[in-house]
Amino acid sequence: MPKNSKKFTIAHVTSQVTPYSKTGGMADVVNSLSRKQSQFGYRVAIFSPYYGFIKRKKFERVTVAKSLSLKIGETKYSFAVKKVKLYDNADIYFICNDEMFGSSKIYGTDHDGLRFYFFQMATLQFMRHNDLIPDVIHCHDYHAGLVPGFVKRSKKFFKKTATVFTIHNLVFQGPKNWWEVPSKKRDSGRGAPPTDKKAIEYINFTKRGISNADIINTVSERHAEEILTPKYGQGLEKLLQRRKHRVFGVINGIDYKVHNPKTDKHIYYNYDWDTLRFKKKNKLALQKELKLHESETTPMIGFSNRLSEQKGVTLLQKTLDTLLKADLQIVVVGDRRGTKEYIDFFKKMVKKYKGKVAIYLKAHFPEDMESKMFAASDMFLVPSRYEPCGISQMKSLRYGSIPIAHKTGGLSDTIKSYNPLTRKGNGFVFKSYNEQEFLVAATRAIENYKYQSSWEYLTWRSMKLSFSWELPAQKYIQLYKMAIKRRKINGKK
Ligand code: GLC
Repeated sequence: MPKNSKKFTIAHVTSQVTPYSKTGGMADVVNSLSRKQSQFGYRVAIFSPYYGFIKRKKFERVTVAKSLSLKIGETKYSFAVKKVKLYDNADIYFICNDEMFGSSKIYGTDHDGLRFYFFQMATLQFMRHNDLIPDVIHCHDYHAGLVPGFVKRSKKFFKKTATVFTIHNLVFQGPKNWWEVPSKKRDSGRGAPPTDKKAIEYINFTKRGISNADIINTVSERHAEEILTPKYGQGLEKLLQRRKHRVFGVINGIDYKVHNPKTDKHIYYNYDWDTLRFKKKNKLALQKELKLHESETTPMIGFSNRLSEQKGVTLLQKTLDTLLKADLQIVVVGDRRGTKEYIDFFKKMVKKYKGKVAIYLKAHFPEDMESKMFAASDMFLVPSRYEPCGISQMKSLRYGSIPIAHKTGGLSDTIKSYNPLTRKGNGFVFKSYNEQEFLVAATRAIENYKYQSSWEYLTWRSMKLSFSWELPAQKYIQLYKMAIKRRKINGKK
């Protein structure tokens, strides 16, 4: 990377980056963190696969490498690299190879191990070839888990490069569910990764990332403690405990330029904390669009996470019938990649509770409808069983939709229980993950909603909270500095 600034250079290696590819919050994190870092004056490069659906999108890109190649075992693969500017000082480099990424799937092929192995090798190969050696490589989740090991073993090009491995979701450790891998096939995580095609699909990429990175972090302080325990450690708690001195928690932020009800182009009526009456108009407009009963006073509850077990849908399956006895509405926003059983469940609820429940699903996550839902809803469900950070609750707060949340991970760091007497707190929290406690929290929210003036005050105060990237981005810079220091010390050994 051009060494024209005194500040170090940063590369992110990620399987997703907004606005080009996204299945979860990680895509937003890479985008907004890069923006902040480039504003701080760092030079940032983001490496990500060129999936079929990105290829078909209309946007300006330049080819910066036409035919590079690399070998995995005896097989040779060629690839190209295309570049697009994301922000001043921040570019995305797409790794292009149709055999690997031509289909429109981000995950879920039968050779994901090979695809992401290739992706990481190609990224490093391109850096070497173009003499774009970063000072720090920031690796996101399993898809970048081999990079720290490759870099550590490099005697030449990456000798001075430090690595940070961020755990966004510890459940995903490789292409196979880690708990289903027979013990004979389990990856020890030591030495160079295998190159045999079958063995590649059994690599535990996350384990290798944790074992080799100079610094490891997860996306909230609370979760950094949780992952050291068997309950949340996903079988890697012992390894994490051994490397505890390198494990940190940095909460994510949200981008207030993008997530702002005052300027958001997707919502029907823009508003802010001093024009809250327009929030109600958003509710009426969404009710009309989604064919719900039109009523300003009926509490509307949103839900917009991945339709997966982690996000608490099983809890909703068990409780929605009870909840829906009250006068309220539920709006679910998601994408069709969600678990079929859950999608079917919500569809059934739409039929059963006509005018009270709506579901809006698209092939790719519909950000526009999510915004409309945040703007229209009074409350927002985040009953996640576990949640490393969670981004949607920060967005919902900015739009004045009050979270009903499980006290876990990043939810616990960002949402404090509301007390109507002291008027402190910004959400309705339940401690133990079970139907009863969830129902109590939801009922408290609905009861409190009846006291409109205190509710408005709660909304007003919650909208004013700040979960910006300013502080987290500075913390990452500190972690990078630590990683560079450690790399120096370890390099000399
Ligand atoms: C994963 C986690 C979520 C976190 C996001 C971004 O999707 O499940 O909690 O907010 O990554 O770090």
